[in-house]
Amino acid sequence: MIESFTYNRFLQSSRTMGGTKNDNPDQVHLSFGYPYSDLFPIQELAEAARQATFEQGRSALHYFGGPAISYLPSWVSGRLEKIGIQVPVEQIKITIGAAHAIEVMARILCNVEDEVWVEDPSFFGAIRMFNLAGASTIRPFEIDSNGILIEPLQVELERRVQAGEALPKLLYVMPNYQNPTGVSLSVERRKQLAALAKKYGFYILEDDAYLELNYTNKFVPAIHTFAPDHVIHIGTFSKIIGPGVRLGWAVVPPALLKFVQQFMSGSQTNPYMQEIVSTYLQNNDFQSYLDGVNAHYKDQRDTMVHALVNTFGDLIEVEIPQGGFFLSVRFTQPTDVVQLTQIAEQHGVSVLNGSAFYANREGRNTIRLCFTYCSKERIVVGIQRLYEAYQQLN
Ligand SMILES: Cc1ncc(COP(=O)(O)O)c(C=O)c1O
Repeated sequence: MIESFTYNRFLQSSRTMGGTKNDNPDQVHLSFGYPYSDLFPIQELAEAARQATFEQGRSALHYFGGPAISYLPSWVSGRLEKIGIQVPVEQIKITIGAAHAIEVMARILCNVEDEVWVEDPSFFGAIRMFNLAGASTIRPFEIDSNGILIEPLQVELERRVQAGEALPKLLYVMPNYQNPTGVSLSVERRKQLAALAKKYGFYILEDDAYLELNYTNKFVPAIHTFAPDHVIHIGTFSKIIGPGVRLGWAVVPPALLKFVQQFMSGSQTNPYMQEIVSTYLQNNDFQSYLDGVNAHYKDQRDTMVHALVNTFGDLIEVEIPQGGFFLSVRFTQPTDVVQLTQIAEQHGVSVLNGSAFYANREGRNTIRLCFTYCSKERIVVGIQRLYEAYQQLN
């Protein structure tokens, strides 16, 4: 009987990504968007877990949690000052990573058949959430090296107003080192986006997952600062401590707080893990840890860029990201990147073809490479293998 069961109808429209199934230990994984495992603060977290359990366990193991429930939002609030976000801590909600924050917001803001606008390319995980929330149309808008183009948005918004058509509910953008291109949004465009949201009455989901992985130490104001009632700003501990802690946050505009409460009713998010992370943050110099992580990743990025330029020369174009995990390689000659990805897999390197990130599945001659997960030595090996695969393709 279970064969005829009718599942949630939105499961059909939501696409899955696939990924490498290769378990060859010699495989170089440049496809995974993961941090470098040796940078995890293992000793410090072990000590924090011991201390948090003995000192706060009797409250932290309850649904309501211990002191971390107020400490963590105030810690986040302190970190957000450098990008100009100043909100009462009650507006900072701790979530199960940024993915959960996206999911909750998508479910709050989207009704079935609503439209969500995204960058092209965009993070496939977020697009999946929008589909699962029932959004019928995910409309992509082109980006360049300064982020999403404003004019096409403006033109389409105005056209719809004139035609009496529905406006989007939500615009999803990654302002810093976006996934997959590594591109950041200029300050001017941040202001313009905020102005559009205010004028046309939609929300912006500002996914700042990579904010702290900043290799220049220069910060610019968040979109949130220009339209605090229209922007939900999202962040995560996944990129700065480890994805396994499953903790992130959303800065929620006052008008949405009651809805977030409805979604999270009955419990705090992972109170025990919040206690461990809070204890870790209080016992350690987090900024100097992060400085070390960023220096490491910058070095890995440079290694990858040099390896690419040295092997591929003018067969590719690559823009150097100023932070984050990823860079996007564009082949200057028409290249079947789907086939390239398959051949590369056989040559011992996994990469992601760009089509996974474009709303219409167009690959646009690009692949995404993650420079943080593998060591510098493995990156060099991986790029060499990719080049061999490219030669075999052509
Ligand atoms: C842009 C972006 N947002 C959100 C996430 C999900 O992060 P989390 O592990 O905090 O759920 C990722 C992870 O790859 C990401 O790249």
